[in-house]
Amino acid sequence: MVTETRLRNDIDEILPGVIADRRDFHQHPEMGFQEVRTSGIVAERLRALGVEDVRTGIAKTGVTGLIRGTAGGTGRTVLLRADMDALPIQEENAVDYRSQHEGVMHACGHDGHTAMLLGTARLLQERRDTFAGTVKVLFQPAEEGGGGAKVMIDEGVLEDPKVDAAFGIHVAQEVPVGTIELRAGPAMAASDSFTFVIQGKGGHGARPQATVDPIAVGAQIVVALQTIVSRELDPTHQGVVTVGAFRAGEAANVIPDTAELRGTVRSFTPENRQLLAERIEAIVRGVAAAMRAEVDFRYRFGYPPTVNDAAMTELVRGAVGAVVGAERVIDGPQHMGAEDFSYFLERVPGCFWFVGSKNEERGLVWGHHHPRFDIDEAALGIGIESVVATTLRYLSS
Ligand code: NI
Repeated sequence: MVTETRLRNDIDEILPGVIADRRDFHQHPEMGFQEVRTSGIVAERLRALGVEDVRTGIAKTGVTGLIRGTAGGTGRTVLLRADMDALPIQEENAVDYRSQHEGVMHACGHDGHTAMLLGTARLLQERRDTFAGTVKVLFQPAEEGGGGAKVMIDEGVLEDPKVDAAFGIHVAQEVPVGTIELRAGPAMAASDSFTFVIQGKGGHGARPQATVDPIAVGAQIVVALQTIVSRELDPTHQGVVTVGAFRAGEAANVIPDTAELRGTVRSFTPENRQLLAERIEAIVRGVAAAMRAEVDFRYRFGYPPTVNDAAMTELVRGAVGAVVGAERVIDGPQHMGAEDFSYFLERVPGCFWFVGSKNEERGLVWGHHHPRFDIDEAALGIGIESVVATTLRYLSS
């Protein structure tokens, strides 16, 4: 209890600095793999704190550092992760810390994640004598589509020292500030995508018999694709097949040569992921062949599902319950969005949870990736406390 009170006091003390960091990052957003300024500040800060073995330039702009407990024994190594990248969005907020970069914005909260992990590193560094084991702090580039986590893993961040568990958080605008949401098992979806070009035969819109109409073929395919989730997936499972782009033709009286379609696919298990990929390709190829068109089909497997380890989730639940009160720790729904923290959880047990950042009274209600996205910064203190409490509990368990 004494320790918890002291932790809260220390967080109150550093919170103004954490908020200042978050606003500084917010004003200077950088896109994936281009987080040069951000990662430079991160590395400088970690070194100033006395964090050991600060490594930079991993996956271009990634940074890691080690905080070694001195409480005796060798202990385990736990990885704590923040993402640093921004989005190609023009900010519409009128705050004095608004983005200074035209068309680029921290509209997902990764500025807050970076600032929180710096605050977390500071508190853990000051508490080295209270734990055995090692904390590896990791700041990654390019969560928004670039798969920065995967590149960092490929470059060896889970070794030297070998990582035993991984934790990560995300601010959440669907959840009121003061509430924490988490879920054991598959918590966020796998995100895969497809692109295909239907090669028909163009001609006069009044002479269809001399053509192969790629628009008619594409329309049949779009409808047929919608039967995969409704007719082939186990109805107690979840999945999405969305065709988000359909480009063909210019004129009302011309049948074009080609049509290009693109879509996204979401699922939660390796089996369903495979099923959806196979059935999409079969339907696209089958319908196109039946209608005399050729097709150039490409499928891309993106981020895997984010699967929280059951025991780790229970450990987090206990730790964060002491932070916000057990009644404010809620079982979250499964999210159809994807997260590249999933690559860490494929290799080591861990948990990724959501720290509420919405505040209706203050008008901080806009969702992630919206031009008016902004968070209640009280979430930053709660986020830090939840990660520090979880880390200390894990290393002493
Ligand atoms: Ni995000």
